[in-house]
Amino acid sequence: MSPFLLTRTLPEDATGAALRADVRRGLTSAPKTLPPKWFYDAHGSDLFEQITALPEYYPTRAEREILVDRSAEIAAVTGARTLVELGSGSSEKTRHLIAALTDLDTYVPVDVSESALSQAGHALIAERPGLRVHALIADFTAALALPETPGPRLVAFLGGTIGNLPPVERAAFLASIRALLSPGDALLLGADLVKEEGVLVRAYDDAAGVTAAFNKNVLTVVNRELGADFEADAFDHVALWDAEHEWIEMRLRSRVGQTVKVPALGLAVDFAAGEELRTEISAKFRKEGVRAELASAGLELSHWWTDAEGRFALSLSTCR
Ligand code: AVJ
Repeated sequence: MSPFLLTRTLPEDATGAALRADVRRGLTSAPKTLPPKWFYDAHGSDLFEQITALPEYYPTRAEREILVDRSAEIAAVTGARTLVELGSGSSEKTRHLIAALTDLDTYVPVDVSESALSQAGHALIAERPGLRVHALIADFTAALALPETPGPRLVAFLGGTIGNLPPVERAAFLASIRALLSPGDALLLGADLVKEEGVLVRAYDDAAGVTAAFNKNVLTVVNRELGADFEADAFDHVALWDAEHEWIEMRLRSRVGQTVKVPALGLAVDFAAGEELRTEISAKFRKEGVRAELASAGLELSHWWTDAEGRFALSLSTCR
């Protein structure tokens, strides 16, 4: 078998159909919303890479610190022979983990971006001769069919992206991960932690304005894909801390009263001056909350590691 396999589980036009459905639903609901998954076209992915290097945006560095410090322990505890990574992107942080997993047979990166998958896959094979890479082009929030590979399996979901899902979807998602695991398999989950409001808000409203550009990029995506006429300059970037739900919310606030046309959907959408469109929630977690959510999905928290400053956590859990 060739060491690199790529399987498409998404139909070629699934993305377009999903975008149309999401935009129609989001722009016709009150309050208006757009789901964060549409941030990540090529430009948006590049802006996100820039965000990860910002002084204010600590999660990426904090998680990398934990992976560097704990990969050997993760390898020893799990003995993983298959590593499945959901939303693998560039697989950059995962390199530390892969290097430490001495018994690893197959890496299964799962992402919607075919270009990211094949780039990362080939780079990893060059670094680790003998490693099999079976990449899956798939939306990880949908049901996954994993290839037949040797156990134990370790499923990794890094970056704190679990926080983009509202609680009800989070529960369904964790249950779907649980369904991929057999006794002896494990889940490695990255979660950003509740901390002082100012630190959190600055991480999502940086001084250089990169996050603002990232947020407004979703309007550019809708313009390009659906022929809409959003003017990015007619919206302000808003990042706020919702203390009740313990999540950061990103919004785009219309500076003026305006009507935006979305020809592909036959929609004309009115915005009042000051009206806000919600584009992302990024929930922040506490250990006991993570433990409880995992338990509800049939998973038992076994390890909890944070960076030295206690900003971010990696949890390891196993099937109960
Ligand atoms: C990639 C989802 C983890 O929520 O912190 C960064 C995305 N949004 N800045 C996050 C993001 C604004 C990021 N995740």
